[in-house]
Formats: sequence, C-alpha cells, structure tokens
Amino acid sequence: MSILQLDRNTFGDPADAGKLMSIEEAHQLLADWVPNERLRLHMKQVAAVMKAWALEKEGADATTALKWELAGLLHDADWEKHPNDHCRMIIEELERRHIDPEVIHCIASHGPRYFGVEPNNSMDKMIYMFDELSGFIHAAALIRPTRYDGMDAKSILKKLKTPSFAAQVNRDDITDALSRIDTPLEEIIQFIIDHQKDVA
Ligand SMILES: [Fe+2]
Repeated sequence: MSILQLDRNTFGDPADAGKLMSIEEAHQLLADWVPNERLRLHMKQVAAVMKAWALEKEGADATTALKWELAGLLHDADWEKHPNDHCRMIIEELERRHIDPEVIHCIASHGPRYFGVEPNNSMDKMIYMFDELSGFIHAAALIRPTRYDGMDAKSILKKLKTPSFAAQVNRDDITDALSRIDTPLEEIIQFIIDHQKDVA
C-alpha cells in the first residue's frame, strides 16, 4: 500500500447521512474501476465479512449492514488504477455521489498508518481489523489443496508467526487493529474463514 496521508479528518457532507448506493451500483463501480479479478475478489470478501459482522455481532438492521458492506466492497476501488492516490480517489468519488459520511470515513480509516485517519466507531475498527487478515487468510487458502475446506484458525495463527509467509502482509497492522477491539484474534480469524470461503 502506498503511503498517502489524506491530511483531513472529516469526509462527506453531514446532509448526506443515510444516503447509500445500491449494492448493484457498487459492483458496477468495481467493474469500471478494478480490472484485476483477484483485487475485486479481495474487496468482495471483505464486504461479505463486514456485512456478516454487522448483522451477527452488532445487531445491525439492513440499512446499517449495507453501509458496512459498501465500505468493504469499495475500500480499495482506486488501488489498481491510482496507486499513488489510493484512498483519495474513491473518497472524492463517493463525496461526488453524496454517499453517507460514515461509509466514506470508514474507507478513509482502513489504514491509519498510511492515510492518517483514526478509526472511530466499530465499523471503522472492523474494516481495519479484517482488511489485512482477510488477504492473509486467502493467501493461506490458495496454497492448500482443499482451499478453505478443513482450514482452521490455529493454522492461520501459526502462519502469522512465520514472517516469510505472505511477507507483504504487515503483522504490525494486525496487532494494532486487534488492540482496538475486544474480540480474540482466533475468533476473528474463524469468522473471516466462515464468511469469505464461499465468496466468488
Ligand atoms: Fe484491502
């Protein structure tokens, strides 16, 4: 991920609170912005995990769950075409489309060390928690003959302690994200496995 401090802390227009796009519209944006299938899959996986967490752990209603899902689905939308403007481009696009500020803030805070925006609420904290870990778990699935079948959280914990495995995944980000929430890492890992394994 490029280092790009956003140098701002407020996003979107408070008057746009509650304004969301449909999930179909978000998929269309991905189709237009992200040619790389692997990257699209990453965003779809994070979206599925975010939506499931909102519904199962936060007691969210359908509208709130859609916010979580949209943030997950769009968080890296500009990464492929605008690596040097990653995060800024998608934020500005969502501001132009008058999307709910909470969705935009969530995307802006998915990498506090890179973008300089601190996660505030649980939606922000969970996207930060899930992002790197979801990619790490998928990398682990790809080298298993049975992929997600029979994968358990303990094997992932072990791989996290092996610096050479998926070396590009920053373990410090995972540790930092974990320090901001109350759920044990093993439970988070299992939740990700369960909810991203069937995403295609
Ligand atoms: Fe990501």
